[in-house]
Amino acid sequence: MAGAHRPGTSIGRVTMTIHTSEASAHATEADALIVGVVQGEDGPRPAPGASDVDDALGGTLTELLTALDATGRAEEVTKIPAAGRLPVPVIVAVGLGPVSNTGDGDEARFEPEKLRRAAGAAVRVLTAGRQPAGLNGTGPNGADSARGEKRHIALALPARDATEAGAVAVGALLGGYSFRRYRTTGIGTDAELTLLTALPADRAGAAAQRAQVLADAVTLVRDLVNTGPSDLVPATFAAEAQRVAAAAGLDIEVLDEHQLAEGGYGGILGVGQGSVHPPRLVRLAYTHPDATRTLALVGKGITFDSGGLSLKPPKSMEWMKSDMGGAAAVLGALQAIAALRPAVNVVGYLAMAENMPSGSAQRPSDVITIHGGKTVEVLNTDAEGRLVMADAMARSAQDSPDLLIDIATLTGAQLVALGSRVAGVMANSDTLAAGVADASVRSGEPAWAMPLPEELRKGLDSTVADLTNVSGDRNGGMLVAGLFLREFVPAGVAWAHLDIAGPSFNESGAWGYTPRGGTGAATRALVQIAEDVAAGQLPGE
Ligand code: BES
Ligand code: MN
Ligand code: ZN
Repeated sequence: MAGAHRPGTSIGRVTMTIHTSEASAHATEADALIVGVVQGEDGPRPAPGASDVDDALGGTLTELLTALDATGRAEEVTKIPAAGRLPVPVIVAVGLGPVSNTGDGDEARFEPEKLRRAAGAAVRVLTAGRQPAGLNGTGPNGADSARGEKRHIALALPARDATEAGAVAVGALLGGYSFRRYRTTGIGTDAELTLLTALPADRAGAAAQRAQVLADAVTLVRDLVNTGPSDLVPATFAAEAQRVAAAAGLDIEVLDEHQLAEGGYGGILGVGQGSVHPPRLVRLAYTHPDATRTLALVGKGITFDSGGLSLKPPKSMEWMKSDMGGAAAVLGALQAIAALRPAVNVVGYLAMAENMPSGSAQRPSDVITIHGGKTVEVLNTDAEGRLVMADAMARSAQDSPDLLIDIATLTGAQLVALGSRVAGVMANSDTLAAGVADASVRSGEPAWAMPLPEELRKGLDSTVADLTNVSGDRNGGMLVAGLFLREFVPAGVAWAHLDIAGPSFNESGAWGYTPRGGTGAATRALVQIAEDVAAGQLPGE
């Protein structure tokens, strides 16, 4: 077909092919065709990209939408039978919400995030849930072989420039995600997506390729987070990192428990010592010949957080397989960075341990020595993330980074402060915190800059060691954790900390392109940060 680009690139079970204008909605055979609906003041209005469909329906699309009670509200999905007037059985109209600027009709510009969410919501509705027999096999273990049939979905959403096309593509790819490793029944449909755009093939192709790279990375992170913790212990997580590194052409070094002992990584060892699955520290490196700066990324990789001897109550433990979401995001970001090739050197550390209670576990009041020599009195073994992060952050001094970003599912207090969708950003400069939060938001990931109030630091004073791992004061727990980590930032290094405790895992219903379970949070933000460093926009002055 004319303008076909990158056929059959695979992301999980969703593939996407880009077609240019010759393949108009009239000519595109598919199982469903997605169009956008704007929430206008006088009712629903077809969005740019839907005009072919409207024509095929004899100009009745608005009438049909109104009759079906569609409003154009964001993510509202309305199915319209095509009744033979298009080469698809069903038109799926998805709401884009009100268009905020004054432009009307084809002039209106859509925020990328609105397009991502709309595309994601529509594709999710078409691919998620229990599928009828015949459409989707019910083979044992959800075997791929039993799932021969794919649903072909065409998207005629606004895609008039590379930004719009890219947003639709990312949202659609991520909305089609499902995690089926442990399913024995037919849930989730394979899909092939066709993005209809009038853009020249090279520009459409570039936008689609970037979308694919980002979606592949987020998919990797979601898969890792969703994997049961007995199937992803530090050694298996490190092996996954090795697989990704080999495929992406990244350098990799894995420190095992013996090398960690030799190197004096008391935080990672202390947290990991209660588990029969020993800890790991993984270092990944991407280099670019024209790079003038080095970015270090450090991710929390607690493969399961029981709390240790400071044991969590059962409810609080249910999702603690997701406590490696920071490390997974660093791995996913490096995979994407290796494909997008920005002119910056990037080093990634994945600090992996399983936090378990046992006869060998660390005790509240144990004193440990972090890499580099600082001592910590461990008063609460459930504040374990900061201990493994401290080791890896101190180690990053060896890379002389221009910017150090650490990313962790660090505190329940983050959820209290910002809710489950907005990451907290702390830094050793307010401008940097703002710059990092802005990069995250631009990438489609909500984030908010938070302060590091000096008066909270004294809560970490210890009676026996350089500092304790928890404060006597319960207030401002996210900020206290940030202040703890600040102690381990190599001298003179610009540093920002992202707390993604909430965003990394979606406990409630799916929305937009975000499924239940692992979300892949921070992956796209980290890629954006790397690109901003390459462009000289970060760390700023
Ligand atoms: N992994 C948790 C933080 C967390 C909580 C992530 C909820 C995702 C959802 C972390 O290791 C932890 O247990 N933090 C403690 C710190 C406290 C003991 C100072 C917390 O937030 O309760
Ligand atoms: Mn914990
Ligand atoms: Zn934790």
